[in-house]
Amino acid sequence: ITFLRSEYKAPAFTIQTVDLDIALNPSKTMVVNRMMIQRAAGQIGQSLVLHGEEQELISVRVNGEIVRGYELTPHSLTIHNLPDQFELSITSANIPEKNTSLMGLYVSNGNFFTQCEAEGFRKITYFLDRPDVMATYQVTLRAIKKDFPVLLSNGNLIKEEELPNGWHSAVWQDPFPKPSYLFALVAGKLQSIERTIKSQSGKDKLLQVWVEAKDLDKTEHAMDSLIASIKWDEQRFGLELDLDRFMIVAVGDFNMGAMENKGLNIFNTKFVLANPETASDVDYSNIESVVAHEYFHNWTGNRVTCRDWFQLSLKEGLTVFRDQEFSADQMGSASGKAVKRIEDVRLLRQVQFPEDAGPMAHPIRPDSYQEINNFYTVTVYEKGAEIIRMQQTLLGREGFRKGMDLYFKRHDGQAVTCDDFVSAMSDANQKDLTEFKRWYSQAGTPRVKVEESFAGNTYQVKLTQSCPATPGQDTKEPFHIPLLYKILGTESSSDSSKASNEQLFELTQTSQTITVEGLKQKPTLSINRNFSAPIVLDFEQSESDLLTLLRQDEDAFNRWEAAQKLFMRSILNGATLTSDLLNTLKEILLDGQLDPAFKDLIFTLPAESYLYEQVKVIDPQAIHQSRRKLRHQLAHHLQEAWLWAYEHHQTPGKFNPDAMSAGKRSLKNLALHMLSESGHAGAGDFALKQYENANNMTERYGALAVMVNFASAHAAKCLQHFHQTFQSDALVIDKWFALQATRQSDLSNPRSVLKDVLALRQHPDFSLKNPNRARSLIHAFCMNNPGAFHQPEAASYEFWAKHVIELNQINPQVAARLARGLDRWKQFAPNYQVHMKSALELIAKQDNLSSDVAEVIEKALNS
Ligand code: ARG
Ligand code: ZN
Repeated sequence: ITFLRSEYKAPAFTIQTVDLDIALNPSKTMVVNRMMIQRAAGQIGQSLVLHGEEQELISVRVNGEIVRGYELTPHSLTIHNLPDQFELSITSANIPEKNTSLMGLYVSNGNFFTQCEAEGFRKITYFLDRPDVMATYQVTLRAIKKDFPVLLSNGNLIKEEELPNGWHSAVWQDPFPKPSYLFALVAGKLQSIERTIKSQSGKDKLLQVWVEAKDLDKTEHAMDSLIASIKWDEQRFGLELDLDRFMIVAVGDFNMGAMENKGLNIFNTKFVLANPETASDVDYSNIESVVAHEYFHNWTGNRVTCRDWFQLSLKEGLTVFRDQEFSADQMGSASGKAVKRIEDVRLLRQVQFPEDAGPMAHPIRPDSYQEINNFYTVTVYEKGAEIIRMQQTLLGREGFRKGMDLYFKRHDGQAVTCDDFVSAMSDANQKDLTEFKRWYSQAGTPRVKVEESFAGNTYQVKLTQSCPATPGQDTKEPFHIPLLYKILGTESSSDSSKASNEQLFELTQTSQTITVEGLKQKPTLSINRNFSAPIVLDFEQSESDLLTLLRQDEDAFNRWEAAQKLFMRSILNGATLTSDLLNTLKEILLDGQLDPAFKDLIFTLPAESYLYEQVKVIDPQAIHQSRRKLRHQLAHHLQEAWLWAYEHHQTPGKFNPDAMSAGKRSLKNLALHMLSESGHAGAGDFALKQYENANNMTERYGALAVMVNFASAHAAKCLQHFHQTFQSDALVIDKWFALQATRQSDLSNPRSVLKDVLALRQHPDFSLKNPNRARSLIHAFCMNNPGAFHQPEAASYEFWAKHVIELNQINPQVAARLARGLDRWKQFAPNYQVHMKSALELIAKQDNLSSDVAEVIEKALNS
């Protein structure tokens, strides 16, 4: 079935209160759901159609009377002849221990957890499981006390009681009306760390992080991140925590990153647990941003929620934007902010640009879907955040804040649309955003062609925009594109004040021209500064202009971008780097004033998935080898500078995860990699010593990765040592699998990685049931190691197909994510395409395909 945005209908009934009584038992959980329901105005005669799946319906009562004349299907319960206002009580049962989809109520390591977004609540009870039905909840949880001593749900704890036969109960009340997707419960053997803080208005707030007892020593960073997030939202947006109590719970089996259930955020352990020995700097920074993201949802998502799931970006794009801004502010320096921006743009280009150009392309507010779980995408999230960022760029920070204030003033407590958000921005600033709204409705990455001319002291930049066709959208209207730009090298201008500042140009038509007069020579253009718009720039800028930008642009993003462009040209044209470029790069690497994290990014080559988007026909091995050749040149020509970088970026003493120390470690790891690549005689020893002496995961993992990637004689021994040292820590064992699945292929033996992966697949620690573990090996190899995965033969594509099929039976969401791996098959060279097509067809012909996998494969094959 395809769901259409245009077919939205307000619900025929509303639910005011929900009283849940849940007797938890892994093999049979009983749910009594008592609701006060009202017929909506003008809905005379309608029957009530509730969603419900994978439960056993036991009884239905209306105002206390048993009802028998209902209609039951595998997905719904319909009740006829209802009064205008009534109490509906439904008793049903489900089997949490058999729930491997990890949606609804499930068991992980003996404890109970829920995941209800988007449509999981309907697996727990019959309900109007849609976000525009908002009710207040009271929840009674019952369980055997010795097995499930902790019982948590949303809101405030009202009462705890001992019950006969070793059972106990807890009653929770959430004062804020919420949609069902924000419901949560947790029960089991967990412990917490606690902090009490005062909020802006002076109220005490109890904060807790709940984990298994063995992980208590890994909770401090999450707690610190939560406190920092609370403070930041007060300061930047004047938004205060509205509950007396806020809980974070970690679970080892989880489909996504985390979930913003009201007052009871549930997290993948990967985004909570950290100590220096087990978590890398990247983990530390991901934890900070995911904790912030979920906390920020309390206002953008929970207090103001989505009318329907087509509006998902209303909360996700906005909340990603907020967490990006938070993380940037936590970096503590201007260069740190730029580093954060570059990292965000890299992700967008590596994953979202290909999505926008492939068979699953959709606007940030999609018009249709078959399975909503497939639309928790980088487009809805990361491109969605870019659309919010552009509004801030157009309105200014203060104007944007005014818009946010008006949005909450108008819509607090409501379920609204993306239109409502833009209206608040527009009305608060008296700015017409009608054309801007095309970013919400049109898919595809716009391209802006830049053509410069200089004649008779006049400099002109002609900008022409276009956007490729996407499924269902053959032609596009022009986008409203905010371009930050600056003209460098205008010292010779007769009026030097004229063009020397950064300016904002609003490109709204197909073609427009920027003109600067009175210049003595052709200047250098720095455009789309700080990546002010999520577009592709078609700009044949000369190498000398790019070198000027790389040396002097004070916009750090465009400095970085200049190097990326030069690298990209070299990779795609197979040209060697000029000595001018190499000298400039060497100066940058040796510049003691520059932020090490920024240097690390300068030397991080464009990802293969982004390079694929630059060519008509993808030859993955050609791109892979050309990229490796470039890296070899950088390693070889700058060998001495790498040695200097390796020696001068130590972080002695107690581990500190701050941005500066993390930047030094990442540059040091890159230097070690480059020294190995250059064949430096000492590199092997450096790696072994670094591995042995490391007091933190970043350095230990970095050293191990170098040994494994360059087939050091110590690699096998250290891999084994690593496994043994961390065998009881699931998240570190995930890293152990991922490292081997993503290692670079031997140029002489391209199939060797697949061979290793097949062996690891049989390892006793491997399981497809745990999403993190499945992703650490299968997704890592198929999606994060293009140079090893893409071979002109059937083997790895068959491996991929086989795992999509197997995972489809266990967990459709994890399977559908993997199924996206061959999205771009049509763009590959024929000798790859044939094998990709057979693999896709192998999946398509299975019966029992989940709607999740079916939608992805069908769209790929029909593209
Ligand atoms: N709202 C969550 C977040 O962005 C993601 C939940 C997605 N869950 C799902 N089953 N698709 O933090
Ligand atoms: Zn979110």
